[in-house]
Formats: sequence, structure tokens, C-alpha cells
Amino acid sequence: MTDEERNEMVVTPWEVRGKVDYERLIREFGTQPLTDDLLRKLSKHTGKLHLQLQRGLFFSHRDLDIVLDQYEKGTKFVLYTGRGPSGPVHIGHLVPWIFTKHLQEKFDTRLYFQMTDDEKFVVDDELSLKETARYGYENALDLIALGFEPEKTFIIYDVRDIDLLYDIALEVAKRITYSTAKATFGFQDDTNLGWIFWPSIQAVPCFIHKKLTGENVPALIPAAIDQDPYWRITRDIAQKLGYYKPAQIHCRFLPGLGIGGKMSASEPETSIFTIDKPEVVKKKIWNAFTGGRPSKAEQKKMGADPDICTVYQYFVYLFEEDDQKLAEREKRCRSGEVMCGECKIELAERVNRFLAEHQRKRENAKKIVEKFHIKR
Ligand code: TYM
Repeated sequence: MTDEERNEMVVTPWEVRGKVDYERLIREFGTQPLTDDLLRKLSKHTGKLHLQLQRGLFFSHRDLDIVLDQYEKGTKFVLYTGRGPSGPVHIGHLVPWIFTKHLQEKFDTRLYFQMTDDEKFVVDDELSLKETARYGYENALDLIALGFEPEKTFIIYDVRDIDLLYDIALEVAKRITYSTAKATFGFQDDTNLGWIFWPSIQAVPCFIHKKLTGENVPALIPAAIDQDPYWRITRDIAQKLGYYKPAQIHCRFLPGLGIGGKMSASEPETSIFTIDKPEVVKKKIWNAFTGGRPSKAEQKKMGADPDICTVYQYFVYLFEEDDQKLAEREKRCRSGEVMCGECKIELAERVNRFLAEHQRKRENAKKIVEKFHIKR
């Protein structure tokens, strides 16, 4: 791959590369920005805006306005999100799930969570069905550790639950042509057949609530923007099948700890996994890319640049809720009062505190994981 190709922005459900220009994604994907007006409308129901909205981590949507209008007129909605279980969960994956949990609490609504053990099997040459099923179980523990309510949270393990999904998947697949799928996902001659059919399975949980309860309500999907191509094709056919178009709320990618790029399990050195031990977290953060200067003397004199610093981004998005303290940290960074080592040590402490609690809850989740399995 040439440098030019490496730097070129690519955002698909399977690959995120180059510097991500979120404004450009809104234009190219045809989504809507989350405006202040819409956020005000949302906060009428949620009270104070969630940190991820306040700090702009969620930035774009499709039909959130329509879903809220309907809600105000008495039509509820369900939440839908998911995970492709190809390995352990990292803290980037937790971003949309934490926000989903907030929405479940505020709107008192069901969540359908799809564990796509089939997707990861067809897409990844290295993984067996046994492995993706095992990761499915492990990843469900991370979801449950976040505190979702068992009565309202329904995990679908695709392979195990295919009988529940298959009829709707066929209805979807019949109405999407190969040329649409190819244009949307970039399929090639050597793409395997399983992968080509697979997007019709990711569409199913948008519609499954009606089959299970008889109620026809829209689904709202919180996820990072990489999943959007699925919803484009699903939205095209939803009404033909008698359902609402699924709505979305999209987040940015939590960056990895290296230079540029999203946190990605395929780059373990720059990703923090929820099962990482404290020493491992400390080491990864110690090696993080910051906006610091080459020497202490230069940094004291000229200050550092929080805009390009991964450590600072983690405080912004997840680990510093207090706006005033965040502004103070930024000021001290720019003025050269604080050295990068200090911020790294503080961040590692906060991440480890969060993970210690998460890992404890994850252990407890083993006792209740079956309660979350979707019922017929
Ligand atoms: P997967 O396993 O790639 O990702 C799971 C969720 O995490 C989001 N995500 C991130 N969010 C913030 N920062 C990051 N660095 C980051 N990396 C990943 C993804 O957008 C996703 O929301 N095909 C899907 C599984 C799936 C799904 C869904 C996801 C099935 N149905 C409905 C969302 C909504 C997948 O492989 O996700």
C-alpha cells in the first residue's frame, strides 16, 4: 500500500483507515448533524444531556427527530445495537453501549442486542464458529457489566437464534439487489457468498420487535458511524415490508493510543481491552502518542498541544466529567505547566479504577448471562 492509499479516508463496517473527516462522512453518507435544537428536544425527555452528547462524541443521526416526534405522540421505540465477536471488547466498543444504557434508562425501553458470531465467521478467514461463539459469550459479559436490565435487554446470538431471524432475513434479502449490495459494501468477485448474504441478517433486529410482540414501533440504533451502510440498505426496504425505517444516532471513533486511527482490536498495543491487567494498561498509556514537545525544557517554554493528544481525548470523552477540571487541564497543557507523564499517570489511574469495577461486574455477569438470552 502506498502512503497516499494509507492516508486516504476509508470508513466501512470492516475497515477504518486514514484521518476521519466527520463532516465529510455526514455529506457522503447522507446523514444529518445533531443540531442544538434536536439536542434540546432530546433533553426534554432525558434531563441533563449525557456527557457523550455534551462533548460531541455523538454527532450525527438519521430520523432521531421523527422518533422523538412519534414518542411525544405516544408511539414508543426500541433500541438496537450489537457486536461482532471477533475478540475481546475494548473501551471504544463500550462508548455506544454506555450511551445505549443511558437511553434505555431514560426512555424505559427494550434493547435488542445482536451478537454477530456468523458475520465474524464469514468475514474473518482465521476464526472458527466455535471461537466466534466463545467470544460472543465473553463479549455479552461486558455488555451486562454495564448494568442493562435483564427484563428489557434481549441478546440475539445469530447462530444459536437463526430460527428466529431467518424468515425476516429472507424478506429483506429478496428485496435488495446484488448491485445495491455491491455498491454499498464494495463486494468483489472473490467475496464469499456468506458475506454477501450477511447484511440481510444485520437488518433483522430493526424489525424483530413486531414479530415478538405484535407492536410496530421504530428502532433507534446507537453505534459508531462505520455501521451506517447497513442502515442505508435497510431503510430502503423497511416500508415495503410494513415497518418503520430504522433511526440512528452515530458516534465518532474513540481513538487508539497511537498516532491517528480508531481504537481497533487489530492493533492491541494501542487498544485498551476491558480484560487488561492494571500493569498492561499503565504500559500502553505510558507509550501513548501525546501532543508533547521533544524535551521538558521546550514543553515548559512553548506548552503542548491537547488537540492532537490521545491522552487528552480520553479525558474528554470518558474520564473527566467535570467541565471546569477539563478546561483547567487543557490550560495547563497549553501553557506548559503540566508534563505529559503526569497526565498519563492520572489517566492510567482512572482507567484502571474504571476497569477494576467493570471486571468485578463482568465476573458477576456470568451468573446472570442466560437471563439476557432472547426468549421466544
Ligand atoms: P463491532 O464489533 O465492530 O463494533 C461494536 C460497536 O462498537 C462500535 N465501535 C466503536 N465505537 C467507538 N469507538 C471505536 N473505536 C469503535 N470501534 C467500534 C461499532 O460502531 C459498533 O457499534 N456488525 C457489527 C455488529 C452489529 C451491530 C448491530 C453494531 C450487529 N448489529 C447494530 C451496531 C448496531 C460489528 O461488527 O460491530
